Amino acid sequence: MKIYQQLCSFMAVLFVFPNTGSSYSCNIPVILQGTWFSRENGRNTFTELDATSMSRRGRCLAMKEEFHVNYTLIFKQDLCYTCVKFLVRTVNVLEKIETPCVDAPEDHVSIDTICHSSNSSQQLVTLFSENYVPVNCRSSLHGVWNFAYQNKFKFTGECKHPDSYIRSCEQPDSQFLKTNQRFNITYKKCTGMTGSFDGVVEYSCLGDWFLGKNHYFAVANTKESRRDEKYRCFLKNLDSDLYLGVSTTADCSTLNTVENSPERLHIKPVQPEIIEPGCRLPQNFSGNWINTANMDADIFINETHIIETWNYDNGRSSNTTYVCKEQHDSLVMMARLTIGSCQKEYVCFDFVLQHHNIVRYRKGTPMITDNFHTVCSKMQFQNQVKSKYELYLRKNPMHFDDGSNL
Ligand SMILES: *[C@@H]1O[C@H](CO)[C@@H](O)[C@H](O)[C@H]1NC(C)=O
Ligand SMILES: *[C@@H]1O[C@H](CO)[C@@H](O)[C@H](O)[C@H]1NC(C)=O
Ligand SMILES: *[C@@H]1O[C@H](CO)[C@@H](O)[C@H](O)[C@H]1NC(C)=O
Ligand SMILES: *[C@@H]1O[C@H](CO)[C@@H](O)[C@H](O)[C@H]1NC(C)=O
Ligand SMILES: *[C@@H]1O[C@H](CO)[C@@H](O)[C@H](O)[C@H]1NC(C)=O
Ligand SMILES: *[C@@H]1O[C@H](CO)[C@@H](O)[C@H](O)[C@H]1NC(C)=O
Repeated sequence: MKIYQQLCSFMAVLFVFPNTGSSYSCNIPVILQGTWFSRENGRNTFTELDATSMSRRGRCLAMKEEFHVNYTLIFKQDLCYTCVKFLVRTVNVLEKIETPCVDAPEDHVSIDTICHSSNSSQQLVTLFSENYVPVNCRSSLHGVWNFAYQNKFKFTGECKHPDSYIRSCEQPDSQFLKTNQRFNITYKKCTGMTGSFDGVVEYSCLGDWFLGKNHYFAVANTKESRRDEKYRCFLKNLDSDLYLGVSTTADCSTLNTVENSPERLHIKPVQPEIIEPGCRLPQNFSGNWINTANMDADIFINETHIIETWNYDNGRSSNTTYVCKEQHDSLVMMARLTIGSCQKEYVCFDFVLQHHNIVRYRKGTPMITDNFHTVCSKMQFQNQVKSKYELYLRKNPMHFDDGSNL
């Protein structure tokens, strides 16, 4: 008798969810469980998901999983069924689309019927984990920029100030660890633009994701306790690194294109700090050169600096500067500064001027330390084969009285 009853209820489950594949039970995956914050219809909303239910939506009846990132679930609360699709963006961020709650005959309840009967006016809602785990910012944002900003809702025009900057770099978290789980945006006020302001905003990174060419990342303001002001989304476009879009609410769906974002930052990689030279290169190195290892770069050398400049197709350029710091014989330790990068590094060059028109050199691994004996230790070149020398060729070869140019 008991077995017969169990069989009956098993058949009933089969009957009720004919289209949900082979799994009838619904175990909400751990990645969806927890307490989440969202802005829904202009209100702060908290949503709780545990292994079997969702707050205000009821008990989970069925689930469909696609590629571990898309989960479609049906919930039942009283006589009402809701279909919720969760898109896992990062461990800290979900987006959801859901149908209005519908009444349905029990024998009609399945993912297909409940989810597809729904009406297309569905809106994507961003859910931020209340117990977020900060992640490394490096894949979201890494470097130092100057910026000008626009805010659609606060002022017209662009607030441009030389001291507004974004800095996302590794910083010491403990004696041994350097991490980059937070970044700072320093805003400066522009006279006449009400809504522009002076202040530093520090964000924790909550992870990033791609949708086509749109690169999104989510953040939490570390100094803000009001939930709706705490969470924000950023948008970059893979085709252009000139702008960043920022949401002005805890909602990523307001960011569709960088251009039309509520707040838009016009960013420019920052020229790194000025470094005083500590040595001089031979005068006969000075001039303009071509680097055979990197034909696309122009090389300018004077007695204290080597500047490599790249020109991109789109008319923009970038450069790396080396400053002479310390020299012993043919070995020169140079400080390397890259536009927009977080820190200076030191590199050992081993130079041989072969002719007036050719410089042969080897380059060691960049290091953070400025200790000559470490940066230029024998180890730096020991494992390199002899042919590892690279060449600078004089751009406009010097000619001599005998007609030779060597
Ligand atoms: C997840 O769902 C979204 C929205 O329905 C869809 O655009 C995307 O292609 C899906 N991704 C995967 C991996 O199924
Ligand atoms: C979708 O739902 C809205 C209200 O929730 C309703 O006004 C509209 O007619 C529905 N559209 C369809 C195609 O069912
Ligand atoms: C952000 O700026 C504040 C104040 O200037 C500073 O204390 C903090 O360490 C900075 N955080 C980061 C990640 O640079
Ligand atoms: C380059 O200049 C150095 C001294 O500054 C000199 O010793 C060396 O002979 C010169 N090399 C060539 C190839 O002219
Ligand atoms: C070498 O060029 C750099 C960059 O243009 C400049 O700052 C520096 O003063 C120059 N050094 C000398 C010795 O002329
Ligand atoms: C290097 O690039 C920066 C930023 O694009 C630019 O401001 C600077 O003038 C460049 N420096 C040189 C020497 O080309």
